[in-house]
Order: sequence, then structure tokens, then C-alpha cells
Amino acid sequence: MILLEGLLVDLVPYGRAFQAREHAWYNNESMFWASMGERELLTRARMEQQRREEAEADQPETGVTFGARTKDGTLIGLFGINFLSCYHRVANLGAMINEPAYWGGGYGTDALLLVVDYAFDWLDMRRLWLDTMSSNARVLRQMQKVGFTPEARLRSVALADGQWNDEVVFGLMRDEWPGRDTMIARLGLRAR
Ligand SMILES: CC(C)(COP(=O)(O)OP(=O)(O)OC[C@H]1O[C@@H](n2cnc3c(N)ncnc32)[C@H](O)[C@@H]1OP(=O)(O)O)[C@@H](O)C(=O)NCCC(=O)NCCS
Repeated sequence: MILLEGLLVDLVPYGRAFQAREHAWYNNESMFWASMGERELLTRARMEQQRREEAEADQPETGVTFGARTKDGTLIGLFGINFLSCYHRVANLGAMINEPAYWGGGYGTDALLLVVDYAFDWLDMRRLWLDTMSSNARVLRQMQKVGFTPEARLRSVALADGQWNDEVVFGLMRDEWPGRDTMIARLGLRAR
């Protein structure tokens, strides 16, 4: 089932096939970047425990998680709309292409355009935000391409491979979003 159809990737339900990839994904280089430099080895048992704790939490996190699947059916990562507040109409975005072979090929931007459009047009959010560490060049470039504004820089927050990194917070307001079709044309994004 396709929930949101892109040019290079489709966003689909994040089901068991994705969960089966988590042990490999959460222990590879993608997690280093997504977790701002942590290199924690996660056992299957620990992951199961975390899943149970999340399911049993009194106040589960609000949000939506999509699985990212290429057009040839390869599962490559997940994109989330997190900490969603219906009252403030604000949400955080999470972006993870967990298969490094797919980095830098436009897949993440294709997926992000889908998620942003969905969050503004269907969930009626007015503000989206995302944070990353200052050495994450792919995210910095992607944020610039998609039109997010760097809003805050928290100094020396994340220790990544022995180097202190700042945390950069990016925001995008609904009235700054020209819509997915315009962004696709602007970026020259094409199906392969
Ligand atoms: C961040 C992420 C989702 C971006 O998706 P992606 O598919 O790699 O991104 P895209 O290819 O669409 O765009 C990345 C841009 O960064 C550029 N880029 C790639 N590697 C780069 C590098 N080392 N230095 C600078 N720019 C780089 C790409 O060339 C591209 O720009 P361009 O279109 O002008 O050429 C993906 O790389 C990822 O999941 N990384 C690991 C986890 C992570 O960092 N998550 C984000 C946490 S906030």
C-alpha cells in the first residue's frame, strides 16, 4: 500500500518488514548522524524492550512514521512527523535514509517534500522544525534546498567522534511553503 507517492520513493506503512531491518539500521552509520554522534550498539533484546516500553507508555508520542521504499521495492529508511501538537499546530520532522548507499541521490529530499506537503495540507500544521548537528552536511544542504530557515544554534551540544558539534534548529512556516509541485520544478527532481 502506498500512502504518499513520490518520484524516487514512496512512503508506505512502517510495518514488520521495516522493523526487521531496524537492528541493522540502528547499528550502522545512519544512526551516528541521526542521533547526533552517538555510537551506541543496540542489541535485539534492548530494541524489543524499548518497543514494549513505548507501547506501554502512559502518554505515547504523537506523530506519524512512514517507511521509505524505492520504486524497485527496496526499504531504505523512515520519515516521521513527531511531537505533533494539534493545539499549537507545530510538529518536528525526522528523516532517516538508513541505507548509506542511497545517500546523496535525492531520495531524502523526495521523501521530505512528501512529508512537508502532507503535514501542511492534511494535518494543517503551521510550523515544522528539525534539528541536526552542525557537521551533518547532507541535512544542512537539504534544509537549504527545501527552504527551511536556520533559526537557532545551540553551541557545543553533541560529541561526535571526539569533536564537539553545535546543534542547528531549522524551521519552515506554512506560508513559506510553495507546495510540492513548485518545489519539484524548482529542484529539477525527476523520476529515474
Ligand atoms: C539526511 C538525509 C535524510 C538526506 O537524504 P539524502 O537522500 O541523502 O539527501 P539528498 O540527496 O536529497 O540531498 C542531500 C544534498 O547534500 C549533498 N551532499 C551529499 N553528501 C554531502 C557531503 N558530504 N557534503 C556536502 N553535501 C553533501 C548532496 O549532493 C545533496 O545536494 P545536491 O542535491 O545539491 O547535490 C540522509 O542523508 C540520511 O538519512 N542521512 C543519515 C541520517 C541523518 O543524517 N538523518 C538526519 C537527521 S536530522
